[in-house]
Amino acid sequence: MEVVILAAGQGKRMCSLLPKVLQPLAGRPLLAHVLASARALGAGRICVVHGHGGEAVRARLDAPGLVWVEQNPQLGTGHAVRQALPHLSAGGQALVLYGDVPLIGARTLARLSEAAGRERLALLTVELDDPAGYGRILRDGAGRVARIVEEKDACAQERRVREINTGILAAPVDRLRDWLARIGNDNAQGEYYLTDIVGLAVAAGVEVVTVAPDAANETLGVNSKAQLAAIERIYQASAARRLMDEGVTLIDPARFDVRGELVCGRDVEIDVDCVFEGRVELGDGVAVGAHCVLRDVRIGAGSRVAPFSHLDGAVAGEACVIGPYARIRPGTALGKGVHVGNFVEIKNSRIADASKANHLAYVGDADVGARVNIGAGVITCNYDGVDKHRTEIGDDVFIGSDTQLVAPVRVGRGATLGAGTTLTRDAPPGQLTVSRVRQHSYAGWTKPEKKR
Ligand code: UD1
Ligand code: CA
Repeated sequence: MEVVILAAGQGKRMCSLLPKVLQPLAGRPLLAHVLASARALGAGRICVVHGHGGEAVRARLDAPGLVWVEQNPQLGTGHAVRQALPHLSAGGQALVLYGDVPLIGARTLARLSEAAGRERLALLTVELDDPAGYGRILRDGAGRVARIVEEKDACAQERRVREINTGILAAPVDRLRDWLARIGNDNAQGEYYLTDIVGLAVAAGVEVVTVAPDAANETLGVNSKAQLAAIERIYQASAARRLMDEGVTLIDPARFDVRGELVCGRDVEIDVDCVFEGRVELGDGVAVGAHCVLRDVRIGAGSRVAPFSHLDGAVAGEACVIGPYARIRPGTALGKGVHVGNFVEIKNSRIADASKANHLAYVGDADVGARVNIGAGVITCNYDGVDKHRTEIGDDVFIGSDTQLVAPVRVGRGATLGAGTTLTRDAPPGQLTVSRVRQHSYAGWTKPEKKR
């Protein structure tokens, strides 16, 4: 089977410079969701019919097996499919999808494709309480599909029909080629309607069958930001549902967003308003507090991420305590039992088991050993204005508060740095190193007084 995805519409109602099919649903372009469903079906070739902003769409989503077809000008859905015909194989089956109908599922499409088989035309239809705006499915006295009438061309009686055309269909390529050569544009919109192939199929004695989607939501289209937001909530609700079915505790599934892939072990608990981006793995018993953003991270069993933490491109071992208000940046690897407290930023650093940085610190480009204590206000000065340099801190080091480590610099195993030290040379192992000015009190000193 080969797929044609219609994506040439401008999407004027989005009021955006971004082409409609690149608008994000769960962090990925609408079209990427449709492509994923087409690929899940094992489709051979996938043709994307684009128009406005086509280059941007292609640049973002191009991949092997995709054929990009331009439709210019846009003269209707039938005209759009016609542009893809040169790329479809004789004797095959074509499946027509819409780039702005992103929730369509592979299982529904597989049923549609099967219903079409080698010689039938299969339409995906649904019954709506309010069918306004859609093409209506008209049936004969025996209940067989006779044709589709667009709302703008329909009479009052036809408009009362509640079974609508979702636009998604499967047909034999050779028939499709023949029908599309014969459709005209003598209708209310002056467009070449893809839907007119239904009447032609019936006239040619080709069986027209209808299939309903697994879930009615699957065929919702996106035309406005409000519809985009509504579809986002549907997507997130089903993602939340899937996780809960696997045993994840979501304190409020309505306040939860996954924009990528979230893989959870047993007894994971996620508090409200967290966002998961890219690929996130949470080990057994991990708890994520409210208002955290986790992107491309792996967190070991029993670890806890306290509220308002932001983790990006990092790995944490078991039994870590991170946050509240921690910021962990790309290239960070925390060992087991590491504590990272409030207003601590860690970037591109390895921190070994049981080390702690509990308050107000910046650790960048550092290799920190095990059981190290990093005091409040400690900063690695990793950047000299031109290059970045590394800081190495051995096991069992104690770094006093408000210390600056001017990299490149090394602190030997078991060393202690006194509070307020500005370390510019390596500190030897096992010794106390202090660089601050010696404290002095002046006996007999008096406060200055105003002269009269
Ligand atoms: C179409 C169907 C209608 C159906 C409805 C479902 C036709 C004639 N009508 O109507 O029966 O109920 O979809 O939403 O097919 N597109 C192109 N090139 C074009 C025109 C459209 O690529 O020249 C694409 C659009 O980007 C969109 C899809 O085709 O993804 C549907 O176009 P749209 O204008 O929304 O179709 P409707 O008039 O709503
Ligand atoms: Ca239209």
